[in-house]
Amino acid sequence: MQSQGSSLANLLISSGYFGDPSVEEVNTELSRIANIYDGRILVIDSKLNILKDTYGIEDGNTIISEDVIKCLRGTSNSIYQNKQGNYIEMTLPITHNNTKDIVGVILLNFSIKNINSISVVLSQKASILFLTTAILIFVYAFFYSGVFTKPFNNLKKAIGHLTEGYMDEEVKVEGFYEVGQISNSLNQMLLRIKNLERSRQEFVSNVSHELKTPITSIKVLADSLIMQENVPPELYREFLVDITEEIERENKIITDLLSLVKLDKTASEMNITSIKINDLLELVLKRLRPIAKKNNIELIYESFRPVIAEVDEVKLSLALSNLIENAIKYNVEDGWVRVSLNADHKYFYVKVMDSGIGIPEEAQDFIFDRFFRVDKARSRGTGGTGLGLSITKNAVHMHKGAIKVFSKENEGTTFTVRVPINYIA
Ligand SMILES: Nc1ncnc2c1ncn2[C@@H]1O[C@H](COP(=O)(O)OP(=O)(O)O)[C@@H](O)[C@H]1O
Ligand SMILES: [Mg+2]
Repeated sequence: MQSQGSSLANLLISSGYFGDPSVEEVNTELSRIANIYDGRILVIDSKLNILKDTYGIEDGNTIISEDVIKCLRGTSNSIYQNKQGNYIEMTLPITHNNTKDIVGVILLNFSIKNINSISVVLSQKASILFLTTAILIFVYAFFYSGVFTKPFNNLKKAIGHLTEGYMDEEVKVEGFYEVGQISNSLNQMLLRIKNLERSRQEFVSNVSHELKTPITSIKVLADSLIMQENVPPELYREFLVDITEEIERENKIITDLLSLVKLDKTASEMNITSIKINDLLELVLKRLRPIAKKNNIELIYESFRPVIAEVDEVKLSLALSNLIENAIKYNVEDGWVRVSLNADHKYFYVKVMDSGIGIPEEAQDFIFDRFFRVDKARSRGTGGTGLGLSITKNAVHMHKGAIKVFSKENEGTTFTVRVPINYIA
């Protein structure tokens, strides 16, 4: 409407319509446009005289309309009015090209009946479109929800299968990337559980075996005494000494196992106090000195600085005493053991060095495993249970510390323990 109005306004100016309103082409054009839009066009001059009414009713009359007067004053360019919803009225100023004076007004009155009916049809179509789209979306959603949830249902089934105890099977679920990831993670978890289960079973069977061995020996010794008649008292004595040794061994295994079980419990079992580690080490060394003396091993203690740290005293002394005891036990004749304590702002370090038999490289990965002993026959002679280092490792880990071993066969072994000075819960 606006563009039609402005092109008409241009035509009116260029044809000099306001001088001579009888220009034929202009009148035809006005009627044509009015016809197209099923409306009415009025051309009004600056004195409010109607120069042209396409209806032919008001020609020559004066118009009194607020909109037209406003438009002539230039206060408003165009006004849209919706009269009873069927017409749009619009006033457009006609401006002189050079002087920019408003020389008249063009009043357009176009019917919007068509537009209204079109909009009714369109809104009907829109409703139908909306409805069909909604139905389509619903159908698709229904269909695809099945497709999407299927892999998850399969996953659920697979997990259900696992919980029923079929742990040997792998979870294998086809589908989206994420489902694949979940089943991968699940398989990794499964593997860990299986490994844990295996090591638990191994542990149980090892424990049974280790506990049974001394008992079997005791039984063999006792049986052989019972079977023989007229056994000389010296033999009784000898066998009883052996039996006592076996009982001691059994006792040691049970003690170690109990320590290990205690260490397996959660960190809440930690009894943390602030103590001087130098004192703790000296106490441990004092207890072990007799064994060292018996084996003719020189026990050296080096402390670089006083260290006060938050630790579980019992667990840490157990850990360190196991290390020092090993260093004494797996040593050579007239050997030495050097224990040192050092610290920085974050950790304290205990180093246990010995001049002993060393640990073969291939065994170094296993020495912290429960019941592992490099040389079973020799370790038996030294009364080992194979639990000492796993106790030590557990105790150190409960302090969020670390333990490392460096060893060379026939040269010696060094264990280093690093523990945070402030306990990390
Ligand atoms: N300082 C060491 N020098 C040489 N071998 C060692 C040393 N400490 C540990 N081992 C080896 O590691 C094995 C495991 O040690 P441990 O767990 O304390 O058990 P054990 O009761 O046999 O001492 C020992 O049997 C020994 O073979
Ligand atoms: Mg040991």
